[in-house]
Amino acid sequence: MLVLGIESSCDETAAAVVKDGRTILSDVVASQDEVHKNYGGVVPELASRHHIENITPVISAALEQAKTSLADLDGIAVTQGPGLVGSLLVGLSVAKAMAYVLGLPLVGVNHVEGHIAGAFLENDDLRCPFIALVVSGGHTSIYEVRGQGENVLLGQTRDDAAGEAFDKVAKFLKLGYPGGIIIDRLSRNANRKAFAFPRPWITSGSLDFSFSGLKTAVITFIKKMNHEPTAQEINDIAASFQEAVVDVLVGKAFLAAEQKGLNKIVVCGGVASNQRLRERLHEEAKKRGAAVFIPSPHLCTDNAAMIAAAGTYYLERGVRAPLNLNAYSRLPIV
Ligand code: KG4
Ligand code: ZN
Repeated sequence: MLVLGIESSCDETAAAVVKDGRTILSDVVASQDEVHKNYGGVVPELASRHHIENITPVISAALEQAKTSLADLDGIAVTQGPGLVGSLLVGLSVAKAMAYVLGLPLVGVNHVEGHIAGAFLENDDLRCPFIALVVSGGHTSIYEVRGQGENVLLGQTRDDAAGEAFDKVAKFLKLGYPGGIIIDRLSRNANRKAFAFPRPWITSGSLDFSFSGLKTAVITFIKKMNHEPTAQEINDIAASFQEAVVDVLVGKAFLAAEQKGLNKIVVCGGVASNQRLRERLHEEAKKRGAAVFIPSPHLCTDNAAMIAAAGTYYLERGVRAPLNLNAYSRLPIV
C-alpha cells in the first residue's frame, strides 16, 4: 500500500511516500526556521502563508523522489491536529482536493500519534505494548501504547512543553531559534553540574510534568547574575538546564514503564533528537535491562513519513475521512 503523507501542523511543510506503513520511499521537509527565527518563535500567520507557497513543490518533490506517480497512490494521510489551525488547513485543503480529484481514500491523523508511529519506520521488530514519551515543542506526554491505535494517556505537562522551555531559555539567552538544538550543541562543551536547577515533579510519583517553573528558575538566575554571562557561563547554564529537563524526562519514562510493568519505551518528538537525552535513555535502559527505541533525529522532528505510517494503519482498517474533515488546535488521541 502506497500512502502519501502530508504534514503542516506547525512550521514544517512536509510530504512523504511510505510503503505498507513501514518503508520510506521519500521524506521531504521544507523548514521555515529562517522565517521565524527573527521573532524567536513561530508566527502563525507567517507559517500559514509559507505553507501555501511550499505545499505543492514539497508534494511534487516527494512523489518524484519516490519515483511514484499520482496514479500509483493507494491513499492520502494528512495531519488534522493538534497544531496551528491556519497551518493545518493548508495541508488539509490540499489533501482533500487530491483525494477528491484522484478518487483516493483519505484519513486524518493525530500529529502526536504520528510521532509515536514514526518509531515503527526504523524498527521492524517493535511490537506493542510499550510506553511512549512524546516530547516536542507543543507536547510532553506519556502514553501506554497497548496496540496501534490504542493509546492510553498516563501523564502530560500541566504548563510548558519541554521543547517550549528549551526555546524560551534559548530566547532569553539570545541564542537563536529553534533553541533546543542550539542548547544541545552548546551543552557539549560545558559543565552540566555547574548550576543546580530544580527538577520539577521528579519525586512526586506522578507522570505529569511541569517545565514552566524550571524555565523561570533559569531566567531568574540569569537576571540575578550581576554581569552579562560569559560564553562559558552561557554554555554551563545551557548544560545545567538541559540536564534538569533530561533528568525529569528519563525519570518519568522509566517510572511509567515500572508502573505498567513494561520494559519497552519509545521516545519521540523534536526533543527526542537531543543528544544528552538519547545518551541518558540508553544508559538507563542498559542498567535496567529495558529496550529504548528512539527514531533518527530527522524522524523525531516534524515530518510526513510518520503521518503516512500512522495513516496507513487506519486506511488498512477501512477508516475514511469525510471531505468536510476539519482542523483542530487541540485534539486528544482517542
Ligand atoms: O516535534 P517538533 O519538530 O514540533 C512539534 O510538534 O512541536 O519539535 C520541535 C521542538 C522545538 O521546541 C525544538 O526546540 C525542539 O523540538 N528540539 C530540540 C532539539 N531539536 C529540536 N530540543 C532539544 N534538543 C534538540 N536537539
Ligand atoms: Zn511534532
